[in-house]
Amino acid sequence: MIHEKDLVFTLHTTWTSYILRVNETNHLEHLYYGRRIRTTDHIEALFDKHTIPTGNAVAYDEEHPTLTLDNICLEYSGYGKGDHREPAILFSRAQGDRVADFLYKEHRIIKGKPRSFSGLPESYGDKTHCTTLIIVLIEKSGGLRLELTYTTFDGSDVIVRRSAITNDTGETVVLQRLASLQLDLPRSTYDLVTFDGAWARERYRSVFPLRPGVHVNDSKSGTSSSRHNPCVFLTARKTNENQGDCYGCNLVYSGDHAQFIEVSPYGKTRLLTGLNPATFSWQLHSGEKFHAPEAILTYSHEGLNGASRNFHRFINNHIIRGSWKYHQRPILVNNWEATYFNFSEHTLLTLAKSAADLGIELFVLDDGWFGSRDDDTTSLGDWTVNTKKLPDGLASLSKKIHGMGMLFGLWCEPEMVSRKSQLYRAHPDWMVSLPDRNPSPGRNQYLLDLTRKEVRDHLFESLSTVWRLAEVDYVKWDMNRTFSDMHGNAASYRQEEFLHRYMLGLYDLMQRFVDAFPHILFESCASGGNRFDLGMLCYMPQTWTSDNTDALSRMYIQEGTSCGYPLSAMGAHVSDSPNHQTLRQSNIESRFNVASFGVLGYEMDLSRLQGQEKESIRQQIAFYKLHRSLFQ
Ligand code: DGJ
Repeated sequence: MIHEKDLVFTLHTTWTSYILRVNETNHLEHLYYGRRIRTTDHIEALFDKHTIPTGNAVAYDEEHPTLTLDNICLEYSGYGKGDHREPAILFSRAQGDRVADFLYKEHRIIKGKPRSFSGLPESYGDKTHCTTLIIVLIEKSGGLRLELTYTTFDGSDVIVRRSAITNDTGETVVLQRLASLQLDLPRSTYDLVTFDGAWARERYRSVFPLRPGVHVNDSKSGTSSSRHNPCVFLTARKTNENQGDCYGCNLVYSGDHAQFIEVSPYGKTRLLTGLNPATFSWQLHSGEKFHAPEAILTYSHEGLNGASRNFHRFINNHIIRGSWKYHQRPILVNNWEATYFNFSEHTLLTLAKSAADLGIELFVLDDGWFGSRDDDTTSLGDWTVNTKKLPDGLASLSKKIHGMGMLFGLWCEPEMVSRKSQLYRAHPDWMVSLPDRNPSPGRNQYLLDLTRKEVRDHLFESLSTVWRLAEVDYVKWDMNRTFSDMHGNAASYRQEEFLHRYMLGLYDLMQRFVDAFPHILFESCASGGNRFDLGMLCYMPQTWTSDNTDALSRMYIQEGTSCGYPLSAMGAHVSDSPNHQTLRQSNIESRFNVASFGVLGYEMDLSRLQGQEKESIRQQIAFYKLHRSLFQ
């Protein structure tokens, strides 16, 4: 629910309120975010009081000698008018001028949540759940129009924020930063909670007190990354799992991102989230509009658990979509750690038979089924069956799996190409690379240029053919390297835009697939959890959490992940002991007890199981099925 009175805007969700106003200089002043308040009578008590000029501060203008933008909580900060904190927007005009001062022009409040049609993934909600406030600001010199959008999601206590800028100046401006969201808080006594790591140790929770200055939580690897997830929390001192103030923020984006958390010299806190300005630049011609990705914001007085529950509810209701939304996810067996590249139809069917006998519902054929791929040096891009391993083809294998009463799933890595492949030989220029340099390899492979439509069309055609022929029910979409040599060989855009255009290309391709195959359950993966984010979850309802399947490591990885994401989004498998990544031994019960707190799977050679272990697994599967709706 959203009200406006005398240009004071009050946004309510079931348990929270967010208040802002247009102040005397026409800037948007942030007044309050926290527990729901019942009345806004005497709201002027929250207005910034500025009665004397402070030291060397810059006054906004001569009419307001005591008002400095540097010490007010603002909704969206420009640059060069006295606010010396991190700005939400930065751009240069043709002559290089960068001063940006956005002032209130108009607003409207509408029921529901309008779509942006920006090509970016976005949350959705109808008129019963959502109300939207759109505020238009104009840059003081005219011609640049900033739209800030706030949508309240009542039931999950989430506010979705968007920002977009339109250039009507008659000249081109270069955009260096357009934050999705700014949140200024009047205090700085918070701890920052981030989710950090690397391959095989994704999203370990870090907690540290805010200090004066700027902390940056970001990714410059081309993916949302296992280094620093875009989900962050600010918790008041003494907040614990179940009580105390907690603010949470996440981004609906899968590429480079940055969260700036700044404590100002006056003890105020600023949080900014959005595209990473370190790797972003966009030429905005006159007449064009640029959309930043959506950001989501929540507050709970019930500590970190309260904020996490809000995010879980929001993701399950307003991010996940399609036929697998609210649908119980099948227990799977994946052949990767059972066979790696070394399999035949016989070994796969033996594994499948043991799995079906134990009650497993989905058989997933992982890497190695295509081209001449016997190791990770070849064939990415050649999405035709490897007839040496599977002489009767995928359709025949799939039929046999279906005949056992299981669903059939297939691995793919669409965004990549191996040098040793027919695709590379036919289209060397489709590889992301600079014309005069050798590109850097990652896992012996290279990126395909998804900014090009012909590349996306080719991937759509070749993979659709396989999925149709093999009657695939599930797809694991992998992505096993980070970005380098960012350059599009057929670019009609400036190369600084490559990374964001790649993401737009990826989203376009995934949208085509989910539209064409609405029945398929997609699981995204990026060397485990290198792209566990809300952007991917808009297309694919679950994500492979980590390549590390060791039960002890997984306790940290899954606990961290669960702070921002629901259990139904987290793939979790029981694997062999000793574990292949850590070599740690653990018993079958511990492995299941951890993996059951996610979407359960098995990734081990089930055909070699002995008596008691086999019985335990049979019981685990029966138990998980009984309690599946609770776990998921
Ligand atoms: C990385 C994934 O995370 C693994 O589960 C497996 O699919 C391999 N890639 C296959 O190459």
